[in-house]
Amino acid sequence: MTPVNFYIYISLALFPITDIFVISMDISENHENLKHELKEKLKCVSSRQDLEKIKLEYIGKKGILNQLFSKMTDLAANERKDFGARLNVLKNEIETIINDFSNNFSQPNTSEYDELYNSLPGKKPEIGHTHIITQAIREIVDIFKPLGFTRVRYPEVDWEYFAFEALNMPEDHPARDDWETFFVDLPFDKKMGRVVLTPHTSNGQVREMLKGKLPIRMLNISRCGRRQIDISHGPTFFQFEGLVVDKNINTTHLKGVLNYFAKNFFGPDRKIRLRPYDFRFTEPSFEVDIDCGMCHGKGCKLCKGGWHELGGAGMVHPNVLKAGGIDPEKYSGFAFGWGVERTYMMKSGTKIDDIRHIFANDLRFLEQF
Ligand code: DAH
Repeated sequence: MTPVNFYIYISLALFPITDIFVISMDISENHENLKHELKEKLKCVSSRQDLEKIKLEYIGKKGILNQLFSKMTDLAANERKDFGARLNVLKNEIETIINDFSNNFSQPNTSEYDELYNSLPGKKPEIGHTHIITQAIREIVDIFKPLGFTRVRYPEVDWEYFAFEALNMPEDHPARDDWETFFVDLPFDKKMGRVVLTPHTSNGQVREMLKGKLPIRMLNISRCGRRQIDISHGPTFFQFEGLVVDKNINTTHLKGVLNYFAKNFFGPDRKIRLRPYDFRFTEPSFEVDIDCGMCHGKGCKLCKGGWHELGGAGMVHPNVLKAGGIDPEKYSGFAFGWGVERTYMMKSGTKIDDIRHIFANDLRFLEQF
């Protein structure tokens, strides 16, 4: 490239942006013009916003200087070095002019400053909270605590023995069917049987008794698994299991504790009722119901005639006490096991009409609680 072409080249590069069109000027003069033009422009700058615009025009990503640098690749190798060096000098000079000017620039007036830096709306940091089931579990624990119950946790993947056998549930019990329980593909043990995802928290009963400490006031809260899914059942859910074993424990203690819980958890306007039922691990056994929080006893798509089954309860079967190494002649006990999600849904005002929302992880749902 001849020197003349080179000057034309620079001038053409500048032309659309700076209005400088000098063909036969030497390169230093060209640079001088560019700086002169910049200084002239700065004289008209009266706000930081104007200054930012000029900065962009000269030293911004797509500014004049970068455009000139990008043209270097078109030059022959021997011309590039000199051209680049001169451009670097020019760049430093232009930056100095702009920086000096901005230093002299009077302190930003607040409104301009705000306009420049604070005009974008701020982003509020998201603040999370505990999941509703964690909230419910904490509330349940707090209600039972003053009665002397201590929260414990037992395996959520356990032997069939603790989940069924020790609870007086024989091999042919329907709950032990493949269609009811999740069996884990692990080796079978002669005494303990297969490994299951615990279908209920009752597996903690005999485990607690085998600790050998009496009296017992246990609250076992854990995750359970069952082969079920519909509007009021999920394949995984939490249960809380109460177990009291002591001398002279009878059904009045059971009723008193459940009433106390219902009053504190659901509020004084909700009612519970006990129906005779059959569980293998309790005798007598009851199903505990609460009036529906959606329809308040009228009957709706979520309940059976205005009532919901909360879960089971009863007096601990002597065979279960024996499996736990406790003499049923000397000690007696009661137990209850309810689903945490289901219990929470019965609470006034929650209005959750499908249990599956709880674990769908949709923030639009979870943020309501
Ligand atoms: N384990 C039973 C279930 O999941 C609930 C239950 C009933 C637990 C009676 C108990 C009980 O402790 O006494 O359906």
